[in-house]
Amino acid sequence: MTVLVHLTDLHIGPAGSRPSGVDTAASLARVAAAIARLELPVAAIVLSGDLTESGDAESYRRLRGLVDELLVPIGAPVLPVLGNHDDRTSFLRHFLGLESLDPDLPFCTVHDLPHVRIILCDSNVPGRIWGRLGPRQLSWLDEQMASSGGRPNVVVLHHPCVPRAFLGVDDHILRDGDLLAEVVREHDVAAILCGHSHVSTSAVVGGALHVVGPATSYLVDPGQGTVARRYEGSGFGVCTIREGRAIVHPHVLPGGGDELVPQAPVLSSLIA
Ligand SMILES: [Fe+2]
Ligand SMILES: [Fe+2]
Repeated sequence: MTVLVHLTDLHIGPAGSRPSGVDTAASLARVAAAIARLELPVAAIVLSGDLTESGDAESYRRLRGLVDELLVPIGAPVLPVLGNHDDRTSFLRHFLGLESLDPDLPFCTVHDLPHVRIILCDSNVPGRIWGRLGPRQLSWLDEQMASSGGRPNVVVLHHPCVPRAFLGVDDHILRDGDLLAEVVREHDVAAILCGHSHVSTSAVVGGALHVVGPATSYLVDPGQGTVARRYEGSGFGVCTIREGRAIVHPHVLPGGGDELVPQAPVLSSLIA
């Protein structure tokens, strides 16, 4: 049995800021406390993007401190990917402390656990709300899944292959999701873990379980309104791989029930 904790859409800003009207650092602290209360044998913590609100240096330095204070004590490696709100150069320099990696190349890595291979993909397209992996990264992903040594694969990326069911904005998702599904279909994939939508969402993609986790920062309701309704509240997922099969529990911590303002128009690029 391998237990992964899935956090997404942390949207951390500079000290004192309230992205979307929320103290997102306090939200992360609340989530970390909830994870600790579960007393799980956590093997890895994956962060599926929108690590910061604006991709600036101060936010990544603050995130580094928050991760070290709140998540590292859980005792498992913390494995991030980038979202549309992130900036690759700033992330590499101010969160990872790396100067030598080429920021024009996708930040994609592999982390092997004894019984699971985690493949972390980079769907960030600078300046765009939608995502793309591109043919080179898809080919790399294909190679990594093929060489997992019999381990089931878990793929982590920010942009989901499916939109919210009702509040469309279908063009905000992964543009080459169909190609990802084709690659996934050829391999042993226990789960695809994503973020971006801020609402827990499950679908089958390429024959595999595809899960959007509830956001750490704030939630979006799954309704059919004319605006993206944001609510106070936080969440995370617990993804357990048992005998090659992923079992995912979305865990939502309700806020005060207050709708957050300003609301984002449906077609705004602000909603995820
Ligand atoms: Fe996003
Ligand atoms: Fe987000």
